[in-house]
Amino acid sequence: MKIVFATNNAHKLQEVRQILGERFEVVGLADIGCTEDIPETAETLEGNALQKARYVKEHYGLDCFADDTGLEVAALGGAPGVHTARYAELFDNGITHDSDANMNLLLQKLEKKADRSARFRTVISLIYKGEEHLFEGICEGTILSERHGTEGFGYDPVFQPKGYDRCFAQMKAEEKNAISHRGRATQKLVEWLRKREE
Ligand code: IMP
Repeated sequence: MKIVFATNNAHKLQEVRQILGERFEVVGLADIGCTEDIPETAETLEGNALQKARYVKEHYGLDCFADDTGLEVAALGGAPGVHTARYAELFDNGITHDSDANMNLLLQKLEKKADRSARFRTVISLIYKGEEHLFEGICEGTILSERHGTEGFGYDPVFQPKGYDRCFAQMKAEEKNAISHRGRATQKLVEWLRKREE
């Protein structure tokens, strides 16, 4: 059965295909000819994930899932949350999608804070045979005071998952995927789809 993953990220597509196996044909936005920027204007991760999946269903008539991830830092009241990808942009219009600027801002905001606990949260929305479902994956951890490692992307150099003495950027992809927010949400989606198709 064919299902669309509302993403242009080849790495995410490959990861989901590996977990889902051959029974599902997972295609990306490029594969269905969707080149427009799908709006992500909601105030929550759930809202954004649903907005993307509904867009594909409405415009292309295909079953679909979409994800949205946020970094929620306790001492910052859950920020940057839904603004994680564009955190630095909130304070400087000249910056666009810049991981380095995002991390600098985060480290600066936490400079005098004793509590450095944080979590990554991924929400996956699924539209399947006319029903909507949400799946959540959480990875608890702390924000380090300086960068370490070279793997991964985004905030990986400063995020250390709970129970580990290394940050995400010091882990190989498989090790990170097994405990990451996105990995956990994806596992839940996959288990649900497999059960439904049994
Ligand atoms: P997205 O919803 O997957 O695009 O994630 C939003 C933003 O969260 C990204 O632009 C990254 O800055 C950050 N992010 C998401 N997942 C990770 C991760 O696994 N490691 C580090 N940063 C992440």
